[in-house]
Amino acid sequence: MTIRKLEPTDDREAFFSGSEELDEFLKTRALAHQRSGSSVTYIVAEGTQILGYATISTTTLSRDLLARREQRNRPADVPALLLGRLASSMSHQGIGVASRLLRFAMELTLDQEDRVGCVGLVVDAKDDVTDFYKKFGFTPFPTGTLNQKMLLPCSTIRSAL
Ligand SMILES: CC(C)(COP(=O)(O)OP(=O)(O)OC[C@H]1O[C@@H](n2cnc3c(N)ncnc32)[C@H](O)[C@@H]1OP(=O)(O)O)[C@@H](O)C(=O)NCCC(=O)NCCS
Repeated sequence: MTIRKLEPTDDREAFFSGSEELDEFLKTRALAHQRSGSSVTYIVAEGTQILGYATISTTTLSRDLLARREQRNRPADVPALLLGRLASSMSHQGIGVASRLLRFAMELTLDQEDRVGCVGLVVDAKDDVTDFYKKFGFTPFPTGTLNQKMLLPCSTIRSAL
């Protein structure tokens, strides 16, 4: 499965994941956000057919949200990558599309750490998919801080890849 950046000629209209919000984002906002430098959307594609997508941007976290052992030698605000959206096409779910995109995001996170500094990968996880992210080692932030957000620290990514 190859991954590349979303292009204007890709068939966004045909994408159906089962989540109206995620389908709508791909159809109406993903390219505009990419053009404005707000995020980049990566897709698993077969020709112009989109099998899945992941939208990635940079973000900042308060050091206090990290596990104690991760707080040492870090400033008050630390950089991270944000996996803002992840979805696979209903007709291609269960064959590893999202896992492939997630692995790509994990590799990008380590690359970012090496080049400009990054503490890990943050996701905005909807309730029914937190178990999906837990499988990869993501852990929730302390209750009441960043609702629904979960973090995969670079140290965990390094052991997983
Ligand atoms: C959740 C979603 C991204 C998973 O995509 P996918 O391409 O089917 O995932 P994969 O085929 O890579 O599955 C990887 C593993 O996660 C498991 N999994 C898939 N969906 C899961 C869920 N909702 N909860 C727990 N585990 C899940 C799979 O069973 C598989 O397990 P295995 O490796 O033991 O066989 C996809 O179902 C989807 O797009 N759903 C609608 C949109 C959505 O909810 N996106 C998440 C927004 S935060």
